[in-house]
Amino acid sequence: MIICQNLIKEFGTADNIFRAVNDVSFRIEKGEFAALIGASGSGKSTLMNMIGLIDMPTKGSILLDGEETSPMSEKQRAALRWGKIGYVFQSFYLEEAYTVSQNIEMALLISGTEAPERKKRIDECLEQVGLLHKKEALASSLSGGEKQRCCIARAIANRPKLLLADEPCGNLDSENTEKIMELLTQLNRQGTTVLLITHDLEDAKRASHIITLKDGSVISDEK
Ligand SMILES: Nc1ncnc2c1ncn2[C@@H]1O[C@H](COP(=O)(O)OP(=O)(O)OP(=O)(O)O)[C@@H](O)[C@H]1O
Ligand SMILES: [Mg+2]
Repeated sequence: MIICQNLIKEFGTADNIFRAVNDVSFRIEKGEFAALIGASGSGKSTLMNMIGLIDMPTKGSILLDGEETSPMSEKQRAALRWGKIGYVFQSFYLEEAYTVSQNIEMALLISGTEAPERKKRIDECLEQVGLLHKKEALASSLSGGEKQRCCIARAIANRPKLLLADEPCGNLDSENTEKIMELLTQLNRQGTTVLLITHDLEDAKRASHIITLKDGSVISDEK
């Protein structure tokens, strides 16, 4: 599902270059539940942003579901992103002034889903995350755990093959963490390939494949 080959991501200008991702290669098969772990600043989000086609690598290649992404135009990248990938951001990025339903509808509008199907999908994904009762609530009124579940609902609304989740339990208590981890496990059982970033080793143990980053490099890759 994901093949990263010699990925490099550098930030800064010529006289002050910082290499956040340093020659990273790994593969994640279809149907896997994989976890990406490593200390703060080790490059996890930078790497996931490249896999999620939000950011471009400085060098190296990423194959997603058999397709080489580096030669793609921005339009092709966007089509692949909306067609196959669900992304749960480290910071929620919800439209606070919109309702839960409207936040999810935006993702469905961008993917070109027709109105009747949008209605069905909104209910379907909210049901899956246990948030159907908050459908008409403003995003700003949700608790932290509810916001995170709303983000997951938005990420799965387009029924992605690949779900990328960047610290989805980062700010949650143990009860909400358990709910989210159970949800990711369930989505994985239903066939979604999941890549989870976490700093919690207990959460990482749910994964069947653990990749550890240190200072931008893979220091272990274990199945
Ligand atoms: N746009 C940017 N410009 C400059 N440096 C950046 C940029 N994005 C990330 N970095 C740097 O790259 C390094 C890796 O950042 P990244 O966000 O990938 O870490 P992380 O492993 O996700 O950390 P955390 O666990 O705290 O979320 C950090 O030192 C960060 O400061
Ligand atoms: Mg991060």
